[in-house]
Amino acid sequence: MIIAETINEVRKYVKEQKMMGHTVGLCPTMGYLHAGHASLVRESAKRCDYTVASVFLNPTQFAQNEDLAGYPRDFERDCRILEENGCDLVFHPSVEEMYPEGFATYVEIQSEMPRQLCGKTRPTHFRGVCTVVNKLFNIVTPDMAFFGEKDAQQLAIVKQMARDLSMDVEVIGCPIVREEDGLAMSSRNTYLNPEERKASGILSDALELGKKLYNDGNDDAEAVTKAMSELIEQEPLARIDYVSAVNAFTMMPVEKLSSDALFALAVYIGKTRLIDNLRLS
Ligand code: PAJ
Repeated sequence: MIIAETINEVRKYVKEQKMMGHTVGLCPTMGYLHAGHASLVRESAKRCDYTVASVFLNPTQFAQNEDLAGYPRDFERDCRILEENGCDLVFHPSVEEMYPEGFATYVEIQSEMPRQLCGKTRPTHFRGVCTVVNKLFNIVTPDMAFFGEKDAQQLAIVKQMARDLSMDVEVIGCPIVREEDGLAMSSRNTYLNPEERKASGILSDALELGKKLYNDGNDDAEAVTKAMSELIEQEPLARIDYVSAVNAFTMMPVEKLSSDALFALAVYIGKTRLIDNLRLS
């Protein structure tokens, strides 16, 4: 596996592959990889001839008060996981390489979608995500790009960006990888102490409760999300940011639950903010 720190190196290696007629897959990450990230890399390795992963802790998607400085890092371990799962090239740029002095261009979706859910408390987050993903697409020029359904709003936003800006890339969503108790894997799970880790099972419990109520014939989004919230509130370490039922494509709230809907939630367990979601189809 090649490790590249500059944009020019990546361009050189990708060009060689394209000259051979090979297809290129991209898996963007912020590092501290786990089985969720690994599943994206495996999917890319299965579907594309050449797999590129990026490990870049993108400062523009973090607000001042967020966890950029404390975000976990272990690049050596990341490289081992990437290589084991079929990655051919890892792009690991510095902040200066991605955002040189004078950088001033951002990509932002001008609809309600990035203002829903996580956008309510993280108003500049998706602007940072779109900007860095756009840059990564321009650098790697992938045929396919792999994103986790774990970040459902991010996936919907990246799909919209690619469509709106006529990007020549297929954006592919991959299923959420979970721990045995249902907790969605996340680099941020490492912030949880053992007691908090135990309490964090409440997120997936609430999603499962919502799905069960829907399957039992309850299609009133407000009533079902209320029941989900009440379950979470029984956990003393949990504090709800949002529990919502939204359309899976637009991220706008729905009144009636259907197979196009998605439960999405963000819950603080202690100081750690965790997100999760479940499609109703
Ligand atoms: P990061 O949080 O590192 O996640 C990288 C990719 O892994 C995302 O597409 C995310 O949805 C996916 N992922 C994370 N946990 C997952 C899980 N449990 N199951 C399946 N997929 C999972 O998301 C980002 O980084 C950044 O915003 C990024 C897109 C790299 C832009 O900076």
